[in-house]
Amino acid sequence: MSKPANGSGGERGDAKRRKVTTLRLQEMKEQGERIACLTAYDFVMARLLDEAGIDVLLVGDSAGMVFGGQDTTISVTMPQMLYHATVVARAVKRALVVGDLPFMSYQASVEEALRNAGSFMKEALVEAVKLEGGEGICPTVRRIVDAGIPVMGHLGLTPQSIHKFGSYRTRGTTDDEAEQILRDARALQDAGAFGIVLEKIPVELARDVTKALKIPTIGIGAGSECDGQILVVHDMLGLFSRFRPRFVRRYAELAREMQDAFRRYCADVKSRSFPSAAESYWREEEERERGKGG
Ligand code: KIV
Repeated sequence: MSKPANGSGGERGDAKRRKVTTLRLQEMKEQGERIACLTAYDFVMARLLDEAGIDVLLVGDSAGMVFGGQDTTISVTMPQMLYHATVVARAVKRALVVGDLPFMSYQASVEEALRNAGSFMKEALVEAVKLEGGEGICPTVRRIVDAGIPVMGHLGLTPQSIHKFGSYRTRGTTDDEAEQILRDARALQDAGAFGIVLEKIPVELARDVTKALKIPTIGIGAGSECDGQILVVHDMLGLFSRFRPRFVRRYAELAREMQDAFRRYCADVKSRSFPSAAESYWREEEERERGKGG
């Protein structure tokens, strides 16, 4: 029999291998252990991220931009998200996998939100969902949580509302906005959210929200005092450079390396140096092999 997912079966001491759950994230906040999160959209990347020890993999609707080439996340659909979430969840053993509810999959009615959150869990096998919004979305959060589905909130810059705000500017920079974000964060916690993404808000506000909450905050462009950090994986790998906000630290320049590999392959094909004799199958050799065997 496999060990229980929450690690209560003797895995407590081994934080590196212990399955990450919402409960574990809560413990990490209480113990001051930072939570490392990244986005994931496909099987190969998800497996690498999981094996590297990333705690939370968000199947973000940023897929629409970095995977699908769209200008915003607005046009991402539930079937697209279910596909990405399914292949990510299939790859992962340790990380908590969170599915991002796309625009208009949860705003029209609480029932529709619940059904879509349920599909994420039943069809894609994610362990939690994320949605954007503050006090106004809390009845929906409460209903989804009551159904047994963990919910992560998302405040500050909320990309699904880009056309309402008209820009990607920093949020929470006035007293009114900051107070609203603090109220929204408290309301999400009261509605049962297990964590909140804080995107592109001032460090001071992120610190106040983090201190005010019992649940972990996960920052992206929100400074170092959040309980955890998240980046879009294509951004930190240097794979996506249509724009580059200051909060993105590049840990690799994979676009450059990949293009170099593609160019060298192209040149090798054109110059006929690929494939070589050793990279080919020869009848003679096959016959020799068959002769050996029998
Ligand atoms: O969709 C996404 O990738 C996100 C992160 C930026 C938090 O929501």
